[in-house]
Amino acid sequence: MYRWNRKKNQFPLLVLVFLGFIVCSILYNESSIRQINHDPDRVPRKQPAVTFVRPNQLARRGKAPVGVLDRFSRCNSTREYSGRKIRWGEAAPASERRRVDLERCNVFSGRWVFDNASFPMYGESECPYMSDQLACHKHGRSDLDYQHWRWQPHNCNLKRWSVTEMWEKLRGKRLMFVGDSLNRGQWISMLCLLQSATSEDKRSITPNAALTIFRSEEYNATVEFLWAPLLVESNSDDPVNHRLDERIIRPDSILKHASQWEHADILVFNTYLWWRQGPVKLLWSDDRDGDCEELDGLGAMELAMETWADWVTTKLDPRKKVLFVTMSPTHLWSREWKPGSEGNCYSEQAPINVEGHWGAGSDLPTMRMVDRVLGKLGPRVSVVNITQLSEYRKDGHPSIYRKFWEALKPEQLSNPASYSDCIHWCLPGVPDVWNQLLFHHL
Ligand SMILES: *[C@@H]1O[C@H](CO)[C@@H](O)[C@H](O)[C@H]1NC(C)=O
Ligand SMILES: *[C@@H]1O[C@H](CO)[C@@H](O)[C@H](O)[C@H]1NC(C)=O
Ligand SMILES: *[C@@H]1O[C@H](CO)[C@@H](O)[C@H](O)[C@H]1NC(C)=O
Ligand SMILES: *[C@@H]1O[C@H](CO)[C@@H](O)[C@H](O)[C@H]1NC(C)=O
Ligand SMILES: *[C@@H]1O[C@H](CO)[C@@H](O)[C@H](O)[C@H]1NC(C)=O
Repeated sequence: MYRWNRKKNQFPLLVLVFLGFIVCSILYNESSIRQINHDPDRVPRKQPAVTFVRPNQLARRGKAPVGVLDRFSRCNSTREYSGRKIRWGEAAPASERRRVDLERCNVFSGRWVFDNASFPMYGESECPYMSDQLACHKHGRSDLDYQHWRWQPHNCNLKRWSVTEMWEKLRGKRLMFVGDSLNRGQWISMLCLLQSATSEDKRSITPNAALTIFRSEEYNATVEFLWAPLLVESNSDDPVNHRLDERIIRPDSILKHASQWEHADILVFNTYLWWRQGPVKLLWSDDRDGDCEELDGLGAMELAMETWADWVTTKLDPRKKVLFVTMSPTHLWSREWKPGSEGNCYSEQAPINVEGHWGAGSDLPTMRMVDRVLGKLGPRVSVVNITQLSEYRKDGHPSIYRKFWEALKPEQLSNPASYSDCIHWCLPGVPDVWNQLLFHHL
């Protein structure tokens, strides 16, 4: 009995001694740090001076214009990132900077509801603009529930898609999507949604190029797509040949792309996945020797976003509408929703129904950076925040049901998950809802 009591009394004492030891060692650590700082023999480490670059400047007089980047561009040398940053954004008046939230509810917070009466909004085979990358049923997918889900916000209803109302909004206008293959998927979805209300002889589409244009004579309107996966000028701007060993961008110039989109009335941008493939080479506009700097993808994306934001604030006609579509999630690891499993999106047939589910394919530091840049832009740009709602849709990707450009090897065919596409989205499907959200915002 006595022994037990002694132990009980001793225990808090031990804890106290231990805590005291920790406090002492922290203090000791701090004093030694102070000592280091005050050590006269120690040369203080010089922080690299941050220099700022004004983006989107035309070549100054007397200087030869910088060469255009293309897929043959190479860096003559590569050094560490110098720390240069983009200076952007003449401060908008405080009242303007405040993000005005006129909406009564957050339409991006909600759940997926199986609704085979109103979805899909078009048939896969009825859409003449369908891509073989996205036509999952045509390429053998037999479970079709992925076409029947409706997005239901928690506290309100999304505006019902109306093709005639959408066309009225577009009458006499140019709507342009700018970005990567995810944005192209959304553009194709938009064409599929819109084409039913046009007659075949009054519409046309230009052949595939960096800028592809769908035109309706009846509405005197165009719906266009510009391939610009990194937003700023890069060596990956060729819409077909962009599988390169190194990514080179001009972090401070978006002028080449902007010349293509500056006359559009409604602009829909995206960028994300291309920054996730490793370090990026930076070729600043004032460089004449091909000397690149290397920076991680997130840092490089931030520079590109700021150069884009500078263009939006200083060069874009304020009557024009700008939307930014947030990152599109991937479903590469089934263990994220099915612990212990080793697959990916292959064979998934239903959405995730855990509210707030978040996967590793949606990078949080990237999201915070995008929040910061868009926050500074304020109401000038409408955010189409597709990330959380698409996170739930592990069933929405083509997996093996699409056209693959390279012949598949027998060992791939025997393990379908190994070559599944868990990045893009089947149509009809998730991107139709992104467009419904876009419609809701126009
Ligand atoms: C003291 O500093 C060292 C590194 O200088 C660190 O590893 C250790 O965790 C620190 N101890 C405490 C208690 O902060
Ligand atoms: C729609 O779904 C309901 C419930 O799952 C089912 O009973 C019905 O047959 C489906 N209708 C069609 C046209 O697929
Ligand atoms: C068609 O739209 C353009 C603007 O995109 C406008 O300049 C032109 O006058 C319109 N044409 C007709 C016939 O309405
Ligand atoms: C790389 O160096 C060569 C030879 O000095 C030069 O001709 C070329 O323009 C340089 N590359 C770039 C991208 O500036
Ligand atoms: C998008 O939504 C997520 C929550 O799902 C939020 O954390 C993020 O800040 C939003 N991004 C923007 C740019 O509004």
